[in-house]
Amino acid sequence: MAWFKRKKAKEQVSDIVPKHIAFIADGNGRWANERGLPRFEGHKAGKETIKKVLDRCLERGVQTVSLYCFSTENFNRPKEEVEYIFNLLRAKKDLSDSLIKRDCKFRLMGDASMLPSDIAEQIQKTIQDTADCKKCVLNFGFAYGSRHEIISAVNNLIKDGVKVVDESTFEKYLYTAGLPDPDLIVRASGEQRLSNFMLYQAAYSEFYFPDKFWPDFDAKVVDECIEAYQKRKRRFGKI
Ligand code: IPE
Ligand code: IPE
Ligand code: MG
Repeated sequence: MAWFKRKKAKEQVSDIVPKHIAFIADGNGRWANERGLPRFEGHKAGKETIKKVLDRCLERGVQTVSLYCFSTENFNRPKEEVEYIFNLLRAKKDLSDSLIKRDCKFRLMGDASMLPSDIAEQIQKTIQDTADCKKCVLNFGFAYGSRHEIISAVNNLIKDGVKVVDESTFEKYLYTAGLPDPDLIVRASGEQRLSNFMLYQAAYSEFYFPDKFWPDFDAKVVDECIEAYQKRKRRFGKI
């Protein structure tokens, strides 16, 4: 009887769509390598994937989409590759328009001061342009490192003279202030690690690792991620 009950519970599937999905957009270089192309072609293809994934998330009712696109450690890559990635963002002249069209608010999860000033300004402008959008938040992980985020939060708390910290105060000092924690973290490319991503916010996230490089992500993969999430049983320490 006990065995039967256990099996039944395992088969339960919910229809709850995650409020917040965070994607680690990995595997651009390997995607290109597999095709005998230079790595930058993978980054170019990866940029096109963002739209497909965001649109499916919007259709499915996901309210916050985080996208980890460039880490604090990625600054250590060859400068041509770093510059290529920055140029992809620079070339996205219609970023505000395309987000406004989707009613999607843009946020930066990252340290703008580490970025070239024109990129930091472009990001700041996009944040302002989309400030009134309501349907969804695109939380853009760029120049992002979770340890850097946590250490900066601590330093800012000290600067503000805060003497005692609780969770709700601390969370206000993170880039994700006001956003729900990710219900689901999806890493592309088959790697199963966080690589300095949302170390604090991931406390109770579910994880899913499709065996696909980021440029191969599309609406179907988003559906597969949501389906995998709906089969999970979240307990948050309870029974
Ligand atoms: C993700 O793809 C994009 C960035 C980290 C900038 P990668 O460039 O890491 O691609 P792989 O992992 O080398 O295949
Ligand atoms: C993680 O990917 C960061 C992003 C996808 C932006 P990396 O390719 O930098 O991570 P590692 O080096 O494989 O851990
Ligand atoms: Mg990688």
